[in-house]
Amino acid sequence: MSRLLLHFGCALPGCYLTAGYLQGKLGVDPEKAVIWETGIWAFNLLILVVLLPRAARWARWPMLMQCRRAVGLWAFTYVTGHLLAFITFLLGWDIFRLGEELLKRSYILVGFIAWITLMPLAITSTKRWIQRLGPGWKRLHQGVYIAVVLAAVHYLMTVRSDYAWAGSYAMVVILILSLRFAMWRQTRGSAPLSAATRKPATTD
Ligand code: HEM
Repeated sequence: MSRLLLHFGCALPGCYLTAGYLQGKLGVDPEKAVIWETGIWAFNLLILVVLLPRAARWARWPMLMQCRRAVGLWAFTYVTGHLLAFITFLLGWDIFRLGEELLKRSYILVGFIAWITLMPLAITSTKRWIQRLGPGWKRLHQGVYIAVVLAAVHYLMTVRSDYAWAGSYAMVVILILSLRFAMWRQTRGSAPLSAATRKPATTD
């Protein structure tokens, strides 16, 4: 039931956007609105993905961690929708122009690298891949932090005058990464101590 609710919540902005587009309620430039909104929702969900482990720890609610895969896959769905909207509405499916845009506009290139970074994470999100990759799976999925940084840079680069929203998103990303770094330093600092005090045959 809660899983269904999660999928419903993540799908809602996309359904709302599609309905708005079909009914012509997205303002004077509906195509641009689709590109902007899918971009924003992709970013919102990416931030949620990196926040969930911390939230689960703070709230002492491990169930939150089980939402991470679904939220991550929804983030990837929105980014892919964003890319497809760009290719459809701005390039008219002229794939050669995509190559030109990647070379000409660095914000497109940065966004594209973020999408490429997320792709292997989406593909390897199944239980079978988790088993197959072993400890390498966790390392690979740290890539979400690279994607979220690239997303912040991409957003900042799209802005022409008002940096308020893009700047706020960038600040949130910096805050999350600082917390992550602080935690990493803490666990690294305590590692030799726990290794020294660990009993020989524990399974943790
Ligand atoms: C993780 C990947 C990505 C994220 C999170 C993301 C997010 C965003 C955000 C937040 C915006 C600004 C929306 C607004 O102004 O309200 C945006 C704009 C845009 N993005 Fe992305 N994006 C990503 C990847 C891509 C890719 C792969 C492409 C195309 C190859 C792309 C093309 C664009 C374009 C054309 C705009 C509109 C720029 C304008 O205002 O003229 N993005 N994106």
